[in-house]
Amino acid sequence: MKANEVRATFLRFFQEKQHHIVPSAPIVVKNDPTLLFTNAGMNQFKDLFLGNENPTYARIADTQKCLRVSGKHNDLEEVGHDTYHHTMFEMLGNWSFGDYFKKEAISWAWELLTEVYKIPKEYLYVTIFEGDEKEGLELDTEAYELWKQFVPENRILKGNKKDNFWEMGDTGPCGPCTEIHVDIRPAAEKALIEGKDLVNNDHPQVIEIWNNVFMEFNRKADGTLEKLPNQHVDTGMGFERLCTVLQGKTSNYDTDVFQPLIQHIEAIVGIKYQFTSPHPTGKNSLAQQQDIAMRVIADHVRAVTFAIADGQMPSNNKAGYVIRRILRRAVRYLYSFLNVKTPTIYHLVKVLVNEMGDSFPEIVAQQDFIASTIQEEEITFLRTLGNGITRLESYFKNIKNNTVEGNTAFELFDTYGFPLDLTQLIARENGYEVDVNGFNAAMEQQKQRSRVASEISKDDWVIVHNIEGNTFVGYDMLQTPTTITRYRKIVEKTKTYYQLLLDVTPFYAESGGQIGDTGTLVSDTESLEITNTIKENNLILHLTDTLPTDITATFQASVHTQRRKDISKNHSATHLLHSALHQVIGKHATQKGSLVTDTYFRFDFVSITEIGEENKTQIEQIVNQKIADQIVLEEYRNTPIQEAIQMGAMALFGEKYGENVRVIVLDKNYSVELCGGTHVANTLEIGYFKILNESSIGAGIRRIEAITGNKVIEYYQAQNQLLQEIKEIVKAPIVQNLPKQIQKLVEDKKALEQQIDQLYTQKSKAIKQEIKAAIQDYNGVQAAFLKIDLESPEKIKNILLELQKEINNTYIVVASMYQNKPLLSVVIAETLVTEKNLHAGKIVKAIAQEIKGGGGGQATFATAGGTHAQGIEAALEKAKTFL
Ligand code: SER
Repeated sequence: MKANEVRATFLRFFQEKQHHIVPSAPIVVKNDPTLLFTNAGMNQFKDLFLGNENPTYARIADTQKCLRVSGKHNDLEEVGHDTYHHTMFEMLGNWSFGDYFKKEAISWAWELLTEVYKIPKEYLYVTIFEGDEKEGLELDTEAYELWKQFVPENRILKGNKKDNFWEMGDTGPCGPCTEIHVDIRPAAEKALIEGKDLVNNDHPQVIEIWNNVFMEFNRKADGTLEKLPNQHVDTGMGFERLCTVLQGKTSNYDTDVFQPLIQHIEAIVGIKYQFTSPHPTGKNSLAQQQDIAMRVIADHVRAVTFAIADGQMPSNNKAGYVIRRILRRAVRYLYSFLNVKTPTIYHLVKVLVNEMGDSFPEIVAQQDFIASTIQEEEITFLRTLGNGITRLESYFKNIKNNTVEGNTAFELFDTYGFPLDLTQLIARENGYEVDVNGFNAAMEQQKQRSRVASEISKDDWVIVHNIEGNTFVGYDMLQTPTTITRYRKIVEKTKTYYQLLLDVTPFYAESGGQIGDTGTLVSDTESLEITNTIKENNLILHLTDTLPTDITATFQASVHTQRRKDISKNHSATHLLHSALHQVIGKHATQKGSLVTDTYFRFDFVSITEIGEENKTQIEQIVNQKIADQIVLEEYRNTPIQEAIQMGAMALFGEKYGENVRVIVLDKNYSVELCGGTHVANTLEIGYFKILNESSIGAGIRRIEAITGNKVIEYYQAQNQLLQEIKEIVKAPIVQNLPKQIQKLVEDKKALEQQIDQLYTQKSKAIKQEIKAAIQDYNGVQAAFLKIDLESPEKIKNILLELQKEINNTYIVVASMYQNKPLLSVVIAETLVTEKNLHAGKIVKAIAQEIKGGGGGQATFATAGGTHAQGIEAALEKAKTFL
């Protein structure tokens, strides 16, 4: 069965069991501070499990793009070295939100695997939770009894908390799980060792394919478990592993999910993939190392492609850094084991698009952009690798005890992205070892430092009013009476504050690039400031530095109105700008991010080239015309997504859109966008639009920074102020004449400088003669010590160097005044430096004491400035003592 058919069969099976099929959520997580990337199919449903939100459908199924490269679930280092772990993988899942539970989940899982996919029953083992005394949890007898109907008892294995109690992270929904494992070893091997002894033992052919989690608890910040209001099912089946089983392969990389990529790599590097498995001890042959490298590259290009498609650019921090590291790992394997030293991985994007584009349109639409981003990263990293190797080679020249110190290996890791094994490889090639313990210690120190810097602790929620509410009314009103339903304390390194949940709220929470609202909560007796509003999944969290004394009171919640209005002007302007960019630059200039604040906004978009002054002016004209046209905002809430797309709405990849969306229209022939932000009611409110700056922020992405409304007036006022100041300075009463007058000033200045230069040249000649005349023979040294009248350190230097060339054995010290301060210049012939051990730098330092100054330079020429002109004579006298 081909991979695409495997996926379709899963979805069809659950659709027939009344499940609603939903698209994969983006792989990059936007509104959950506890996660950088989607690491399990259930992430997007977290609030449904916790009861923070009511489900639209009680049963859902999908395939979810997952990335396990950071946090609690991190498989990165395994990838490529075994045949069944991945950074990015697809997780096929079915969900019940307070609907069916263990009975249906288990029997459907069995039916699908054995009757639809027709996996031989005797290949399968199942595990159930054995209970945990410390947690107060019992053996899952219900699951055991259910499985007994299908599976002989000796194939039902009991597992501990680590394997059979699934948790998303340190806090959040969790519960016991039952896993299904498959033994695909040849019969002869099965005869020797029973499969049940290899379950959960890292055997590459006895692997877990499906995890069925029975969500019953919420893990709280204090570590305790709290029963959830309802019971749910969360299942996740490894799509790539399932394909391996169904295609009769022994490695995920041998299936049609990865083979097209691997074949393409073979063609590029001219090395054959040999279908080897890595050696368990890690002592791999060349062929094995090359196979590992190809697996790493095939895996990593998928992860990076999907992350970029969902809006996560490689960068130097947080999620962006994780993506950069994955890509760099691939480049490094290519470089070290396949001997390719030019950008190559970006060529694989088109292969991925061919294979997966039908199921994931986001990679088709952005193919060129993704490829050029990867290519740019490859170029930069290959350069860094080259620099690191140079650093290491120069280190080898002074190496002590044949060992590369741990700190150096760590510096290479930290600065040049060299993982330890690469440093070891290069060291070994040169006959050296690396101090691994030292490396680990340096790494641990750094981790400790960053842990301390980023530590943040959240208390559990304290319930004030037992109301589910979290209703946003801020599109329609900026004030409303409300109550605090829960709060929790947050302790960060430098501050402590609180997050409040309100029953009803007018506060817009930071999202979609728009910053969060600020405002006040006022009761009959007290008032508190809301300093920011943010989102955690769908919860709207209001930040405040203090709690009210009476937390149960009714409050009037008020958003700071002017600030919100200014934000809305900027947000509407981003929409007008987006369409203007499409008109002027082209349809490819799609949005890649934005920041909308009350004082300005940023808009990032795809474009290889600079937009240029002419286009910029045209864009400003279009947007300002749209403002003047007084376009009335049309807002459609809760529109089915298909309808929105038919209206012409531009959907942005990497955003999680529900079934129903909000559409913002500013002239249906001009701008139709899916958007959750706040806007003006009529474009005239924006007042005026002005681009301040346009720049590049990375491969193929440009950024416009712009302002609207009063900020534009302030901008022009400031410009005008500047003009007035310039007028004053150049004494030009009429603004229009300014450019001409300034032009003239510049030209005059240039002419004067030329004249001065000529004068100095003439004067230099005379001074040179003066110095020459002063030279006397001191036992073969031609020396002169005198004060001269030339205010140009550069000309003095020239004269002295000329004299040094023209006359043998010179030692000349001259004093002059420069900008009203004494200056000493010393020149010494090279012969005197070597034979008499004279050193201009040292001499000038010593004699500069007399003019209360300091300086230095080389052995043959040096200068020093000072503050005490009366000391010049003494300095010259002192200079003589060096003879
Ligand atoms: N949440 C479980 C997992 O990720 C099942 O989907 O394994």
